[in-house]
Amino acid sequence: MTGDKPSHKHEDRNGGSGSAGRLEIDAPVVADGPELYRITRDSAVLDVNSSYAYLLWCRDFSQTSAVARVDGAVVGFVTGFIRPDAPDTLVVWQVAVDASQRGGGVAGKLLNHLVDRVVARGVRFLETTITPDNTASIKLFSALARDRAAEIHSSELFTADLFPDSHLGEDLYRIGPFDAA
Ligand SMILES: CC(C)(COP(=O)(O)OP(=O)(O)OC[C@H]1O[C@@H](n2cnc3c(N)ncnc32)[C@H](O)[C@@H]1OP(=O)(O)O)[C@@H](O)C(=O)NCCC(=O)NCCS
Repeated sequence: MTGDKPSHKHEDRNGGSGSAGRLEIDAPVVADGPELYRITRDSAVLDVNSSYAYLLWCRDFSQTSAVARVDGAVVGFVTGFIRPDAPDTLVVWQVAVDASQRGGGVAGKLLNHLVDRVVARGVRFLETTITPDNTASIKLFSALARDRAAEIHSSELFTADLFPDSHLGEDLYRIGPFDAA
C-alpha cells in the first residue's frame, strides 16, 4: 500500500463493481461530514450518530479517519481514534462503503491507508467492535489481519444486556501487532 506522501493521499483506479473512476483516499475535511452521515444512514446496518457527530469527527479526528472518493464524490469512510488509555491502539469506530461501490476493495484500502498513517505515529494495534451477525465486517477485518500478517483475537465486550435498547452484543476484535513503519 502506498500513501506515504506528505499529504498521506492514496490514489488508485477503482477496480470494483462500482463505476470505474479514480479512487482517492485521504483524511476527511469538515465538509465531508454530511456524506459520512448519509452513507451511515443508507447502510441500514450501522448505528446512525447525529449529523453533528460526523462534523465534529471530521474536524477533531481527521488524523485517525479517512475518506474514499471516486472522481471527487465520497463513496466510503472510516472513522477512528487513538485510545486515550492505550496510545498504541487505534479504535475503528465506523467503516462503511456506499452500496454502489461495495465488493471492489474500497473498505480494505481505507483500512490499510489508515493503518499506514497511524503506524507512523507509533500505533501497533487496531481494535473494533462488531455484532456477531455482521459477516461482511468480520471478513473485512480478518482480511486486514491476514494481509498485514497480524494476529486477530475476538472477545466479548459489550453484551446485549448492557444496551438500553434492542441491540446485539458487540464483540471486541483486536488486531496486531503491526510492523513498525
Ligand atoms: C463492510 C463493508 C464496509 C465492506 O466494504 P467493501 O468495500 O465491500 O469491502 P472490500 O471489498 O474492501 O472487502 C474486504 C474483504 O471483506 C470481504 N467482504 C466484504 N464484504 C463481504 C460480504 N458481504 N460477505 C463476505 N465477505 C465480504 C471481501 O471478500 C474482502 O476479503 P478478501 O480480501 O478475503 O476477499 C461494506 O459492506 C459496508 O459498508 N457495510 C455496511 C456497513 C458495515 O457493516 N460496516 C462495518 C461495521 S463498522
